[in-house]
Amino acid sequence: MEKMDNVIILNHPLLQHKISMLRDKNTGTNEFRKLVDEIAMLEGFIALEDLPLEDVEVETPIEKCMTPKIAGRKLAVVPILRAGLGMVSGILALVPTAKVGHIGLYRDEVTHEPHEYYCKLPSPIEERTIVVVDPMLATGGSAVDAVSMIKEHGGVNIKFMCIIAAPEGVKRLHEAHPDVQVYIGHLDRELNENAYICPGLGDAGDRIFGTK
Ligand code: PRP
Ligand code: URA
Repeated sequence: MEKMDNVIILNHPLLQHKISMLRDKNTGTNEFRKLVDEIAMLEGFIALEDLPLEDVEVETPIEKCMTPKIAGRKLAVVPILRAGLGMVSGILALVPTAKVGHIGLYRDEVTHEPHEYYCKLPSPIEERTIVVVDPMLATGGSAVDAVSMIKEHGGVNIKFMCIIAAPEGVKRLHEAHPDVQVYIGHLDRELNENAYICPGLGDAGDRIFGTK
């Protein structure tokens, strides 16, 4: 895949190791959830490196000083339902005061196009850094629609974080929303005829929630 501005493929060995464990069809629901949570935290650590800070006064045992803390009311996490829910707690472990919005989208099994069924976002959203989370970026349809919905509500500073992406989805998301910073745990080979990522990990929602 050609190099694209704003698309960051995270190649940290800890991420690669955990993603390999996720892929294994013998990894059960409990372990799968824990891994998604840990991966989201590791990815979040990198994706949030530009979070705004403000100096606050703190008294150490030695003296008073001005020292930086995350500026208030600055982060919103927005999972794409269902599978994105699995990544929320990893981000909240890093920034417990973040607000959480929800976007409900499901892919039509035949056309693979997303259908919206829910949208509730924190308000006001304009000043926040918004991190959209979804483990899978396949055709890119869901991510493109989620970002469009956030922009329609006034969102400006938007990041998209996934665990596994297909080249087709990265290209579609980048072409539709070149301003969005995209963080990818691992870039896989391609989509199959059912628009599943190969080798991928199967259906992320079913594996997180133990359905099917
Ligand atoms: C999965 C996944 C993404 C979407 C990716 O969700 O969690 O949201 O597919 O595919 P795309 O890039 O081709 O749009 P799904 O629609 O299966 O819903 P679920 O999470 O409720 O299972
Ligand atoms: N959604 C998933 O959960 N997995 C895929 O491989 C593609 C879309």
